[in-house]
Amino acid sequence: MAAAYKIQEHKFDMIVVGAGGAGLRATFGLAQKGLKTACITKVFPTRSHTVAAQGGISAALGNMGEDDWRYHFFDTVKGSDWLGDQDAIEYMCREAIPAIIELEHQGVPFSRTDEGKIYQRPFGGMTTKYGEGPPAQRTCAAADRTGHAILHTLYQQSLAHDAQFFVEYFALDLIMDADGACRGVLALNMAEGTLHLFRAQGTVLATGGYGRAYFSATSAHTCTGDGGGMALRAGLGLQDMEFVQFHPTGIYGAGCLITEGVRGEGGILRNANGERFMERYAPSVKDLAPRDMVSRSMTIEIREGRGVGEHKDHILLDLTHLGPEVIHEKLPGIAESARIFANVDVEKQPIPVIPTVHYNMGGIPTNYHGEVVQLRHGNPDSVVPGLYAIGEAACVSVHGANRLGSNSLLDLVVFGRAVANRCAETITSDAPHAKLADDACDQALSRLDKLRNASGGTPTAVIRDKMQRTMQADAAVFRTGETLADGVRKIREINASFADVKVSDKSLIWNSDLIETYELSNLLSQAVATMVSAENRTESRGAHAREDFPERDDVNWHKHTLCWVDDDGQTRIDYRPVHMYTLTNDVDVVPPKKRVY
Ligand code: FUM
Repeated sequence: MAAAYKIQEHKFDMIVVGAGGAGLRATFGLAQKGLKTACITKVFPTRSHTVAAQGGISAALGNMGEDDWRYHFFDTVKGSDWLGDQDAIEYMCREAIPAIIELEHQGVPFSRTDEGKIYQRPFGGMTTKYGEGPPAQRTCAAADRTGHAILHTLYQQSLAHDAQFFVEYFALDLIMDADGACRGVLALNMAEGTLHLFRAQGTVLATGGYGRAYFSATSAHTCTGDGGGMALRAGLGLQDMEFVQFHPTGIYGAGCLITEGVRGEGGILRNANGERFMERYAPSVKDLAPRDMVSRSMTIEIREGRGVGEHKDHILLDLTHLGPEVIHEKLPGIAESARIFANVDVEKQPIPVIPTVHYNMGGIPTNYHGEVVQLRHGNPDSVVPGLYAIGEAACVSVHGANRLGSNSLLDLVVFGRAVANRCAETITSDAPHAKLADDACDQALSRLDKLRNASGGTPTAVIRDKMQRTMQADAAVFRTGETLADGVRKIREINASFADVKVSDKSLIWNSDLIETYELSNLLSQAVATMVSAENRTESRGAHAREDFPERDDVNWHKHTLCWVDDDGQTRIDYRPVHMYTLTNDVDVVPPKKRVY
């Protein structure tokens, strides 16, 4: 097999797969530390999905009112419904402050206060005084195009630090050795159709989420969870896959994101009666409750007949009272999206919105250094040598069962930086590479050959459509044992139907049919993990709302799920404990209590 495919070999100290916010922050950080670093990306870096992030990035800078990183820590633990690891949350909330100041110095064009400080807006679940004070203004913004601003700056920094980019290269599989260490990746140069083995001391997966397992998602079509798919094929377990975030305000019908920053600036959700219904569900924070709660409240309003429109199946987001000045200065991007995708002039009409899949809290388990961890020989924190994961691909876990808005851009930057710092300490530049077995790439190559020549009867798009509709229907905002059991049966069948996939284009040059088939297979295994993990967890916590088990059950379920999916679609589940300790005495562990706002 190996003989049939010619492979070009490249050697680096570090490889980063993915060029979104996390990947680029890691790439330039590693290069800055003197490690020879390559970034492999399937899209041009500034087209990565981080470019679509709108509302902002959280950090307790206190520019616009009292704040403290410990308040941010408390809010994140509570937002996670106590499933987040408190050591990692402490790390993220404390490091947020220097990480944002660095971004400012690197050139991110943040919006400014009259005094010239970074502008900060309120976001859901962000409070002061450990939930007892007023909402925090903690989310640093560049109007409503914050991801765009950050991504471009990070790419410029990566170029400035001489990182090497391999653009439009698709990572096919991880190359693991017999001892379970990662030695690099095999990738396809999509434009040339050439194969490349990237060898490195460390491989960082920064490949983003798998939102496109669903029919309607704010995620770009490129969000196919390629890192998670490769990790599963390498025999690694994924963590907390049952927790999928629905953003309350995707544009009805189109799925495009309308930032939570709209509600941060004073926008209001209204039902068919014109009622500000969030007052009933979250009396103190109202429209700025965390996303899981707002999405559930909207779904209840629709179910109880108070939805708007011909089919009474959506909700309105009203910002007509904000005035043209706020809209032009703070929310220009969503005004444009609403005009293009909903034919709405936001100064005069409300935007039709519906909860839409937005973020995967689950992913490849890591510690707060970005090192991938697995449960091995009874050790839940056993590090996989040579493998790292950051950003949405990873589950650190700082978001637990529900992520707070604006903690995602933060996660990208803080853990991209953390992995660079860790590798600077543990990896020696130009150290000799471990010897690779002659057949190290054989499994990846035979999979490539099999998929390229797949001549079954079902086109990739047909299987993908079935998967997306099943996930949308059965792993939804509200779940029951019945819908999940049905979902597990269906998603297993759909996964099995991949054996009959048909790839029409047999070439290797710009073969989008083949790439979409790889992406589908990455999505499918994670769709299976999501559905199976959701059926298994018989409680409600954060974004996982079981109608048959409406309460959180800390006695039985205060633990992370691990799920393995093998090549035949067989699954196995185990657990890791939640880290109920902090890194320092600067902050106290927040013990579980009822989560009300
Ligand atoms: O609503 C938003 O702007 C999204 C932010 C986030 O997901 O963190």
